Amino acid sequence: MRANAFTLGAVLTLVVSARTSGACPDGEHEHAYERRAEPIVHLTPPSRPLVWGDINIIHTTDSHGWLLGHQKASFPEPSYSGDFGDFASFVAHMKKIAEEKDVDLLLVDSGDLHDGTGLVDGFPPGGIDAHDANKFFDQLPYDVLAIGNHELYIYANALDMHLNFAPKFHGRYLSSNVNITVAGPGGTPVSVPVGSRFAKFKTRKGRKVTSLGVLFDFTGNDHNTTVQKVEDMVNEAWFADAIKEEPDFFLLVGHMPVARDKWPLVFNAVRAVHPTTPILIFGGHSHIRDCLQFDGRSIALESGRYMETVGFLSVNLDHQGSKANLTVNRRYLDPNRVTYEFHSNRRDSSFDSPQGRKITKGLQDLSNRFNLDLKFGTAPQDYTLSRDPFPSNGSLLSLIVDQVLPTALTVNNSRANIPNIIITNSGGLRFDIYAGPFTKNDQLTASPFTDAFQYIPNVPLSVAKSVLPVLNGGGNNGRRELSSAEERYARGDVDERYGNWLAEMHERAGPERRAAQNLTLGYVTQDACPGIGDDTLHTPLPFFPSPGFISSTPPTGSVDTAIDLVFVDFIASEVLKVLNGLQTTKTYTSSDVLSYTSILLNEVLGVFAQVKWN
Ligand SMILES: *[C@@H]1O[C@H](CO)[C@@H](O)[C@H](O)[C@H]1NC(C)=O
Ligand SMILES: *[C@@H]1O[C@H](CO)[C@@H](O)[C@H](O)[C@H]1NC(C)=O
Ligand SMILES: *[C@@H]1O[C@H](CO)[C@@H](O)[C@H](O)[C@H]1NC(C)=O
Ligand SMILES: *[C@@H]1O[C@H](CO)[C@@H](O)[C@H](O)[C@H]1NC(C)=O
Ligand SMILES: *[C@@H]1O[C@H](CO)[C@@H](O)[C@H](O)[C@H]1NC(C)=O
Ligand SMILES: *[C@@H]1O[C@H](CO)[C@@H](O)[C@H](O)[C@H]1NC(C)=O
Ligand SMILES: [Zn+2]
Ligand SMILES: [Zn+2]
Repeated sequence: MRANAFTLGAVLTLVVSARTSGACPDGEHEHAYERRAEPIVHLTPPSRPLVWGDINIIHTTDSHGWLLGHQKASFPEPSYSGDFGDFASFVAHMKKIAEEKDVDLLLVDSGDLHDGTGLVDGFPPGGIDAHDANKFFDQLPYDVLAIGNHELYIYANALDMHLNFAPKFHGRYLSSNVNITVAGPGGTPVSVPVGSRFAKFKTRKGRKVTSLGVLFDFTGNDHNTTVQKVEDMVNEAWFADAIKEEPDFFLLVGHMPVARDKWPLVFNAVRAVHPTTPILIFGGHSHIRDCLQFDGRSIALESGRYMETVGFLSVNLDHQGSKANLTVNRRYLDPNRVTYEFHSNRRDSSFDSPQGRKITKGLQDLSNRFNLDLKFGTAPQDYTLSRDPFPSNGSLLSLIVDQVLPTALTVNNSRANIPNIIITNSGGLRFDIYAGPFTKNDQLTASPFTDAFQYIPNVPLSVAKSVLPVLNGGGNNGRRELSSAEERYARGDVDERYGNWLAEMHERAGPERRAAQNLTLGYVTQDACPGIGDDTLHTPLPFFPSPGFISSTPPTGSVDTAIDLVFVDFIASEVLKVLNGLQTTKTYTSSDVLSYTSILLNEVLGVFAQVKWN
């Protein structure tokens, strides 16, 4: 059964199933929900109703393919179990409520639709990442969408956004500072915006809106795509023209964190022309929940990642020219049916809209077409990236270096009997593994990267053992030129920002508060906007830091035992530099680097699960 009937205020904790179903009371959608099977978990409902205003905006960002919702039974996953069909039903009900209240309700997205789950990355050979999953976005009434950096790592993906995605939104898919080079008339290459640079439109209530869609200063984009720096964009003539006329409010959507990035440049450029016009900013990219106000007549909201958060913002507009602070409210919703039903004042039996059901069914059909339920084995327990210390039994990174790589890389490998050390970068793992069936979808979610494994034979054990500490910055004779935090950030790496956020909430909570509270695990946000932002109250996720590089346990032997030094190709040049810094007997070059196995990083977990989890 899916959920008990829900009565506002009458029940504190509902019984719902994370992905649920079996015998479904309203028979007509039993097929649509057949994958929603056990286990049954309790979800805490929101702590209080939403505060509506004149302008209300629902925000998604960094969805990265999580349109089927989070499907595992361990917390916090069930809190994020709503799928995109449930979300569509929620939006439809909220639109109705907005009409009844005679206020505006808009829907915006801040980008990063690509890379993250099987729905986007599990396409058969010859396909294009996220092409099919993206078709569900245009079934929702999005008012404005902005491009993300993950739309730009591969030219074919950016081209697909330009040719097939943007046109569905009729000028509302924005890429103010992002161009793509395509064949123009007569075949000459021309650089054009991927979507549109700005949009001007009126809300249902007739309010005038001017919108931009800005990307942070991203440098990891593919050839034939162009990202213009934010400071250059605000000096463009088109920019001045676009913001000249005063709207009722500016709606600045963009793939750029609201804090510690370049929103102030955009904000100040608009403020210089319009000293009091309300400016509503919707950011993204750093995968955190965050909010701040650049002045009293503006607000900037960022709504997390992976459909673990849906943002809600409301503003009361006053008269033109007013200098008073705006009344603003923001809320971070846990995307699940309990949340959605609570805020749309629906029971489980009256919640699904026909459109919502159609989307859920469409997503499941896509999952079937990509064979995402293909089971490799059964994970005996949860393995997490940062909720368990490294090294430990619960650490996914420990599982990888202690068990997965030593097993998977030596299957059918003629070098299996030669002692080795296997090194990888911990950034090659993207998401936790949870107890239960381990499927093709779980494999792509945990590690979507197609890195190959290489090795250098006959490395003396004493030298090989020293590589990892140098890579991790512990040694001082490596002379490595690893990239700086700024360079990694510019290329799109947000692990550090997201990790710092988790660390901060973990430290703030302390063990006493954690134990005293009878709450499920989840985000506990402290931001710079007034009041409490989280919609459902949780106890914070534990956080343990981990090193940038990890390795298997070195074999025993004398210092000069010759071993295979195995590593992912992604870090090959760094490994060579470190080796040459550690010793002078031999100068290692790329010609010493050989292919170790044909199994790629995004396959090792599946191979391991077939061998050990069956
Ligand atoms: C960039 O696109 C143009 C036009 O389609 C093409 O002629 C050129 O080869 C592309 N450049 C690269 C590096 O692929
Ligand atoms: C983007 O495309 C527009 C339209 O073709 C062009 O005028 C502009 O120079 C391009 N901008 C960049 C930064 O390439
Ligand atoms: C108005 O908002 C600004 C910025 O958030 C704040 O610094 C200021 O104290 C507020 N003023 C009043 C009167 O609340
Ligand atoms: C890890 O697992 C092993 C084997 O099951 C067990 O002996 C050990 O106590 C566990 N360690 C921790 C920290 O749970
Ligand atoms: C190893 O070889 C066997 C027999 O050829 C084959 O069935 C199996 O798929 C191979 N395993 C891997 C992981 O390549
Ligand atoms: C809260 O405590 C009660 C009683 O100990 C327990 O039954 C319930 O499952 C707990 N709820 C959560 C969310 O942990
Ligand atoms: Zn992202
Ligand atoms: Zn991003």
